[in-house]
Amino acid sequence: MTIRVQLGDRSYDVVTGAGARHSLATTIASVAPRASLVGVITSEAVHALGWDDVDTGLARVTVVVPDGDVAKTLSQAERVATELSRHSLSRHDVIVTVGGGAVSDLGGFVAAAYLRGISVIHLPTTLVGQVDAAIGGKTGVNLPTGKNLFGAFHQPLAVLCDDDFLATLPPREIANGYGEVAKCSLLRRRSAETLATLPISDLVRDAIALKAEIVSADEREGGSRALLNYGHTLAHAIEALVIDGIDLDIRHGEAVAVGLMFAAHLAEALGRIDSRGVENHRATLQHFGLRGDLPSGLLVDELVGAMARDKKAHHDFTFVLDGPVGPEVVAGVPRDVIIELLVAAGGVR
Ligand SMILES: NC(=O)c1ccc[n+]([C@@H]2O[C@H](COP(=O)([O-])OP(=O)(O)OC[C@H]3O[C@@H](n4cnc5c(N)ncnc54)[C@H](O)[C@@H]3O)[C@@H](O)[C@H]2O)c1
Ligand SMILES: [Zn+2]
Repeated sequence: MTIRVQLGDRSYDVVTGAGARHSLATTIASVAPRASLVGVITSEAVHALGWDDVDTGLARVTVVVPDGDVAKTLSQAERVATELSRHSLSRHDVIVTVGGGAVSDLGGFVAAAYLRGISVIHLPTTLVGQVDAAIGGKTGVNLPTGKNLFGAFHQPLAVLCDDDFLATLPPREIANGYGEVAKCSLLRRRSAETLATLPISDLVRDAIALKAEIVSADEREGGSRALLNYGHTLAHAIEALVIDGIDLDIRHGEAVAVGLMFAAHLAEALGRIDSRGVENHRATLQHFGLRGDLPSGLLVDELVGAMARDKKAHHDFTFVLDGPVGPEVVAGVPRDVIIELLVAAGGVR
């Protein structure tokens, strides 16, 4: 199935389904006809599994980076770009990323800056990569002071989401992606009963389509793209505490599940939804094998402090909250209600 991201002359296709990677050579020939060399960027685990061994139809140079966010640094970007330059990758050539969100963020950023910008095609090999990171053109690396602080918008020419990649993904990485898929089901206002009638692959495709629709409507996050932050206000706060050194093993998607459940309680407390709405959030998370309970022992003051510092919080407490017309961005959520609900969820005062 092909989903189109509509961005005028920068529109592109997201191809989904088993075997989607095998259309890479024809995709390159059609979207980058002047290319003669392909710079493949991948990570160690993905390379060991052979997933980057995909036919490009052209000569190639492969650069392997470490797995995970350790690859998202300026020094790795420099190393990759230097390697591509040594092989004389030209501005007519194309970069292909094969890996998780860390690889598409790094590779997309290199593509945005190498020779002042060359074409990139993403082959996301994780569920997070497929439903989120590889679509939308946000690229970048981390700085010692924080995640994703150094980057650029650079839309790909195509994204090939091959179901086959997911067969080797560890269960924890699948759960990580399900956090975002659950978020999309809730943004679509699907009932948990409806979810039960649909195969998971349809729900994943639906999440990809939602991301494509939202990016088409709001490329740079001035409006509806902010809805994709559903569940993320608290999730980012929990992740900030982890970066600050608390001992907690939580993946982003698991933190999003906690944030979604919290947002449901917040929406109920503010009279935006009723208890059935809260129950639908719980049942939706359950459908994806997620719990959404606040991890025990977190200090309420630290969570609230981290939320206040979140760059997306716009100086007050902003949440995406469900309501009569579905989830909306709600600014000025009262601090005392947040504190009360964090305590009710088991947060420590
Ligand atoms: N640009 C965006 O809009 C956006 C959106 C969401 C997330 N992100 C970024 O994406 C990153 C997270 O992405 P992620 O969750 O994909 O993590 P990841 O890229 O770190 O990959 C997770 C792990 O899975 C391994 N892996 C990848 N594909 C595999 C496969 N098919 N089989 C087995 N193992 C495989 C990787 O090597 C890695 O060890 C973060 O850096 C985050 O900031 C960006
Ligand atoms: Zn997320």
